[in-house]
Amino acid sequence: MKIVLMVAIGYLLGSIPSGVWIGKLFYKKDIRNYGSHSSGTTNTYRVLGKTAGTAVLLMDILKGTLATCLPTLMGITTINPLWIGLTAVLGHTFPIFANFKGGKAVATSAGMLLGYSPLFFIYSASIFIISLLITSMVSLTSMISAILITLSTVLLPKFWPTILPEFDWLLTAIAIGLTLFIFLRHKENIKRILNGTESRVPFGLNSRK
Ligand code: G3P
Repeated sequence: MKIVLMVAIGYLLGSIPSGVWIGKLFYKKDIRNYGSHSSGTTNTYRVLGKTAGTAVLLMDILKGTLATCLPTLMGITTINPLWIGLTAVLGHTFPIFANFKGGKAVATSAGMLLGYSPLFFIYSASIFIISLLITSMVSLTSMISAILITLSTVLLPKFWPTILPEFDWLLTAIAIGLTLFIFLRHKENIKRILNGTESRVPFGLNSRK
C-alpha cells in the first residue's frame, strides 16, 4: 500500500508543470505555444528569460530529488528509490496537471540522480557543463550526457569507485531506458541539429556569433 502511495506521490510531484505555471502566472504565456513547445528549462530560458529559466531548472530538479528520497523519508527499504524517481520523470514528461504535455525528461532525471547520489550528480552535471561548453546546444548536450552517464554507471565502480562505489544494475537499466526515452523526446531537435537550424546558447565553442 505504501509503495502505491509513493508511486502516486512521485508521479504527482513530477507532474507539477513548473514551466507552464510560472509562464501563465507571471508572464501570461503558455510556453508550450512558443519556441520548441517544451515546458522544460531550456524553452523557459528561451521564451521567458533567465529568472524564470533558473526557477524552472531548480524546481524540475527538485521534483526528481524529492521523489527519489520518498522511500527514505517514509522509512521504506524494500524498494530501490530509483523506481520512485522514475515516476517523477514520467510525471514531468506527461503531467496530469498540464494535459500530459510536459518536458523532455532531462532536468527531472538529473534530480533523480541527485537523490540517488549527490556525488554522482556532481559528476554527471560536470559532464553536462563540459559538453554544453563544447557544443553550445542544450539538446545535443542532453543526449551526449545521457550516453556518457549511462556508460559511467558501468565504468565508475571499476575505475573511479569514489564517485560510484558499487555497480547497481537498476541504475544502469534505468539509465539505458532514459537515454532511449530522451532521444525519442528530442526527435525534432535531432532533425534541427542535422539540418543546422538547432538553437544554441550564447556561450561555448560553437555559439552563434
Ligand atoms: O532539456 C531539454 C533540452 O535538451 C532541449 O530543449 O527546448 O531546446 O527542445 P528544447
